Amino acid sequence: MAILVTGGAGYIGSHTVLALLERGDDVVVIDNLSNSSKASLDRVAELTGKVPTLYVADILDKHALKEIFSNHEISDVIHFAGLKSVGESVRKPLEYYENNVVGTLVLLNEMLLAGVDSLIFSSSATVYGNPEKVPLSEECQTGGTTNPYGTSKLMVEQILRDFSHAQPEFRITCLRYFNPVGAHPSGRIGEDPNGIPNNLVPYISQVAIGKLECLSVYGNDYPTPDGTGVRDYIHVLDLASGHLAALDHKAEGSAFKAINLGTGVGYSVIDLIKAFEKAAQTQINYKIVDRRPGDVAECWSDSSLAKQKLGWQATRSLDEMMRDTWNWQKNNPNGFSS
Ligand code: NAD
Ligand code: WQD
Repeated sequence: MAILVTGGAGYIGSHTVLALLERGDDVVVIDNLSNSSKASLDRVAELTGKVPTLYVADILDKHALKEIFSNHEISDVIHFAGLKSVGESVRKPLEYYENNVVGTLVLLNEMLLAGVDSLIFSSSATVYGNPEKVPLSEECQTGGTTNPYGTSKLMVEQILRDFSHAQPEFRITCLRYFNPVGAHPSGRIGEDPNGIPNNLVPYISQVAIGKLECLSVYGNDYPTPDGTGVRDYIHVLDLASGHLAALDHKAEGSAFKAINLGTGVGYSVIDLIKAFEKAAQTQINYKIVDRRPGDVAECWSDSSLAKQKLGWQATRSLDEMMRDTWNWQKNNPNGFSS
């Protein structure tokens, strides 16, 4: 039996493929390489000594999915494939709904036809919209998303919930990631954003390497200890192990689960800058600018449900997150094309 990983060449996907191969699972990947390169999986093969089977194809292509399900005995699907840029989703809503929502529908339909009934879906803390309180537990209200990306995640969660009522034999886990950062400690795989990064940690690391001049800190007048935004940053390898735990516990509890993957600790933008400066032994040039529209003051998880249901908790510290990000950045100044 093999595990099908959609979007497995991407940032979180490649680290999860590595973790699956390391524990002895067979892995099949479908990825259209729209936001990644095959090099990530070549390096996963180099690190693990095992080669995942790659189909360069789109999840919207039902014939490609049929071929995969007929060529391999798939036990579970981990579904990362999708578009993830908040700003781009505002400019290109149809692309986001097509890839993220329609793509999931096509995948589900082919799983149903092939008799594959276990799915783990990449959801996001973005489904909570403007947090009603922190820490955010799974019982907090979802909704109030402010961009098509966030709404697409919320819609898919609702579709999966409805689908699980109709198909109670399916085991579905939506994992709501907080802010994934870091890289494999080897420095061989990591996050490789296109163009100028939107997210904090890739931006800081490109300032550190000298590709960007100065970090803009979006606001220091939030009601937080130092006035800058607070988030729950989680090491990508902790996220990867969360997926393995979700596979191991799929049969327990209800057919549909939504579970936070975070550390349960919030750090500010200034905390991140300081931790990165320590890891890279350099100073990060930054300036305070206006708040970024749509940002919330603070967002961090109550991560107790993951511990209770999956026996999982994040173990890596902020210093390890920054150390591994810097190690990846300095060894691959131009990402996978370095
Ligand atoms: P990523 O862009 O690195 O990985 C996504 C992968 O999916 C890429 O390799 C891309 O080429 C592929 N892909 C996109 N559309 C596809 C399609 N239609 N068919 C086949 N392949 C397709 O992103 P990531 O950071 O690894 O995120 C993985 C998942 O986790 C996404 O669904 C994302 O929305 C979700 N997520 C990410 C974050 C984050 O901050 N990185 C936070 C919460 C949730
Ligand atoms: C973190 C903090 C910014 C950039 C986004 C998505 C979310 C999820 C993860 C997928 C905030 C501040 C940032 C910069 C800054 N993705 N910042 N200067 O906004 O928490 O979450 O990625 O599901 O849906 O919205 O992450 O890394 O962009 O920002 O000051 O140049 O850093 O204001 O406080 P965010 P981020």
